[in-house]
Parts: sequence; structure tokens; C-alpha cells
Amino acid sequence: MHNRPRSSENLFVFFQRRRKKSLLAEVYASPVPRITEKRLLSSADVAEQAGIHKDTLLRWLRSGVVCEPKRNRHGWRMFTAEEAASVVRIAKAEHPATDTNLILRDAATASVTVERLRKVDWDFREAKTSYLTHSLHPYPARFIPQIPNALIQELSDVGGTVGDILCGSGTTLVEGMLLKRNVVGVDANAFACLISAAKTTRLQDGDKESLHHLTEHALHLASEFATDDGPTLFPVAKFVSRAPRPKHEAVNFWFEPLVTEELAEILSWCRELPTESARSIALASFSAIVVNLSRQDSDTRYVRREKHLRTGDAFRRFVQVLAENITAVEKFTEPLEPNITCTVVHADILSTPTTPALDLVVCSPPYPNAYSYHLYHMTRMVWLGMDQPEFKKREIGSHRKFSSKGKNGATIETFRSEMKSVFVWLKHIIRQGG
Ligand SMILES: C[S@@+](CC[C@H](N)C(=O)[O-])C[C@H]1O[C@@H](n2cnc3c(N)ncnc32)[C@H](O)[C@@H]1O
Repeated sequence: MHNRPRSSENLFVFFQRRRKKSLLAEVYASPVPRITEKRLLSSADVAEQAGIHKDTLLRWLRSGVVCEPKRNRHGWRMFTAEEAASVVRIAKAEHPATDTNLILRDAATASVTVERLRKVDWDFREAKTSYLTHSLHPYPARFIPQIPNALIQELSDVGGTVGDILCGSGTTLVEGMLLKRNVVGVDANAFACLISAAKTTRLQDGDKESLHHLTEHALHLASEFATDDGPTLFPVAKFVSRAPRPKHEAVNFWFEPLVTEELAEILSWCRELPTESARSIALASFSAIVVNLSRQDSDTRYVRREKHLRTGDAFRRFVQVLAENITAVEKFTEPLEPNITCTVVHADILSTPTTPALDLVVCSPPYPNAYSYHLYHMTRMVWLGMDQPEFKKREIGSHRKFSSKGKNGATIETFRSEMKSVFVWLKHIIRQGG
């Protein structure tokens, strides 16, 4: 009797549940395509019969969705006809041909997916998080790389397209490319797009040479203006740059004049590099030293304090960061498959931008009222000539919007309705079955 609806209020839920159950029963009772061959089948044969990629079959085996078959004397998996038929049946539920099966597939795969994710060890306390290009530039509230890595492996196939629609510093994009997926990143913050592009850059011919040349040039200038910490008889020569610098009050407020000269010079060198890939690595390295050389306390602490920097400090720090970043990008580029693509779109997701179709989205939305990305990145965006006030208007969840009590102040309702429209948009850009 417990199957009966308890009140008229949950009648709808009751009928929904019954419909789902009967659909499930329908599919599991449907005739299994016959595999008549007597011989044992290899993983490749079974994947072909089931119409799935071999990597998908391996993923199902690894996560227990499909039972492990016996192995032959070479250690290869060999499936019996029954085992192969069960793979075909699962594939059939994953790739339904009709709309009715679509509802079933959603229900069946959702529970399989949850089961599979439960088996993942999500404790990454000991995990190294700054390998390859993940250490290229600091970014607040970025992913532990192992999280998108696990989700991408569990929920997508090699050659598919994975998106992060709030890509920030591009952690998902880096992991997706390493796992042989095409990747798409979206962020309303031009600065986040720069970092994502730099972290996913492949070195082009001549990039190493032009970047090393830049390092040597900066080293040379740094040594010309070398100072020791003791008192000197003669005043230390000041470096003066002819390069343009932003006409923004923040420059005088946040930077000592000697630092401004050196930053203006470094920025002009970065902009003159011949390829987009070299420019993006150099600009990200420039950006990485900006806050440290400013009077801003730290990346996530927006208060002013004097740091007593010396002539040549900016050159020296730039050289160090650039050299580390070149090595990181080289190491990242090495294992990449040549045909894997990365697209970074600078757009507000609330304006429903156009993106390539996605098979999976892995992202972490900004927590409402936690950060103000436009504020923490302000000095960097000013130096890089990015439209910081425009991003401030677009930023979801910003602490500034939530602490404003005026009519433009945000509430949890604002966040809810913004996320709702994001999900409606996602329905259009995620492929069927994604
Ligand atoms: C929690 S961070 C993502 C960090 C990212 N997972 C990483 O590993 O670096 C959230 C991102 O949402 C972006 N964002 C905020 N409002 C946005 C909007 N309206 N459209 C697109 N991106 C937005 C912010 O710029 C920020 O980079």
C-alpha cells in the first residue's frame, strides 16, 4: 500500500514515478540484440558492436558499470557473447533512438553516473596542485586540478568537447586538453581569458627564442641597475622608460614611481613579441608580478601598504617568473595531441553567448557574496588596458553587489534567477546526451 499517493498534493509526483518505473521496465525488457558468434570478443570488437568508443568501454569497465571479463594468456580482455550483449544493452540505454527512451536514459544514466562518482576518491589533501601550467598565475578560488580531471574522465570521452563556462584561470581547460578532449572556456573577465589562454598555449616555432631573448634583455637591464642593500656614496641611477603607461589614477595610488617606469618598459616588450602565443605567455608573466610590485597587500587582500622596492626589482622578478612560465608551457605542450583544440570566449554567460556545442560542462560558479574579482584584479586590468568597470557590472555573485543596499544591490534571489537563466542557456549549448 506504500505505493499509493498519500494525499492529492503528491499525486503528480506519484504518477511521474510510476511513468519512470514503467519506462525503465520497458527498456530492460526489450530484446537484446543478438550476438551470435561463438568466439570470444576483444574490447575493440565489443565497442564496435555496441557503437561506442573503445575508451568509453574502458571507462565503464574501470568504474564497474560493465563487469570485467576474463583475460587471455596475453592479458587481453576477452568477452563472451553474453558479456558483449550486456555492453550493447547498456550502450543502447546510453544512446536511445526515441524520445521515450530519452527520459529513461536520463533516469538510468543519472543513477549510473552518481554511482560511478561515488566510487571516486575525492580526498585530494595530499595532491600536488601546481604542476605544468597550473602554477603560471595566481587566481582566487580556482579548482584543485584533480577535481575537473576526475569529472572529465568519468563523464566524457576522448575526442569530446568539455566546457567551463566560468573558466577563470582555465584549470578545467588544462586538464581537459591533457585528457585529449577539446575544450571551451567562457569568462566575462578579460583578464581571466588572458590567463586561460596563456595556460593552454602551445609554443609555436620561434616562441622559445623570442621569449629567451626577452629574458636576456630584462636580465641585462636588471644588472645595469643592480643595487646592494648597504648605503652608497653615489645615488643609484634611476631607470626611466619612454614606453606609454595607463592614464589611470590607480597607477599613482598603487605603484611607486620607480616600479611604474619598469612595468611600463616590460609591458611594451611583451606587446611587441611576434606571435600571439609568445605574447600571451609574456603578458601573463607580467600580470603575475603586478600585485606583488604594487602597494596592494596581496592577491586577495585589497589594502594598501608600502613595500620599499628597489630599482631593478620589477625586471628581476619578471625574468624569474617568465623563465618558470616558459618551462611550464614547454612541459604542458609536450604530451598534447596535435588535433586537440582550445577556444576561450570572452563573454557574459547571462548574455547567452554562442559557443561550440559541448558534451560536458565542468565549472565552479562564484559563490554569492564571497569575492569581488573585479576588485582583486583591478591593478592588473588597468595595466593591461582591460575594461574593468564593464566586468564589474557583469560579475555574478560579487561581494560589492551583495553588500550594496541600494536598488542595484543583489540578494540570494538575484543569484538564483541568474543561475536559472544559465541552466536554460546550457540546454541549448550542450549536445543531446551530454
Ligand atoms: C570561482 S571562479 C572560477 C575559477 C575556475 N574554476 C578556476 O579554476 O580558475 C568564477 C569565475 O566566474 C567568472 N564570472 C563571474 N560572473 C560572470 C559572468 N556573468 N559571465 C561569465 N563569467 C563570470 C569570474 O570572472 C570568475 O573567473
